[in-house]
Amino acid sequence: MPDPDFVRVAALADVPEGTVRSVKIRIQEFALFNVKGTIVATRGTCPHQRSSLAAGQVCGDEVTCARHGWRFRITTGEPLPPSGTYAKLDRYEVVVEAGEIWIAPERVIP
Ligand code: FES
Repeated sequence: MPDPDFVRVAALADVPEGTVRSVKIRIQEFALFNVKGTIVATRGTCPHQRSSLAAGQVCGDEVTCARHGWRFRITTGEPLPPSGTYAKLDRYEVVVEAGEIWIAPERVIP
């Protein structure tokens, strides 16, 4: 089991490669992406107008928000055109252990 900062949020089997799933810890929404077998956790809502990123379209290492089409690189959080340049996606530390996904909701990756 990871250290106490981590919270179990899903089974690895719940996030197949190339998909995104929304999870909540208390009232905070996170998005879990499976990018070629690597689990990435980001904030769950779009920095533009807070649509759920789980409703977006995933293509490789990119997600496109379903609402207005802003795009982000999942593994770095960087915005891609036409997103606003200020709109980086926060990413969070993740541990995958024994088929379970854990997030540290207070540990934003710089
Ligand atoms: S809410 Fe995501 S692009 Fe507008």
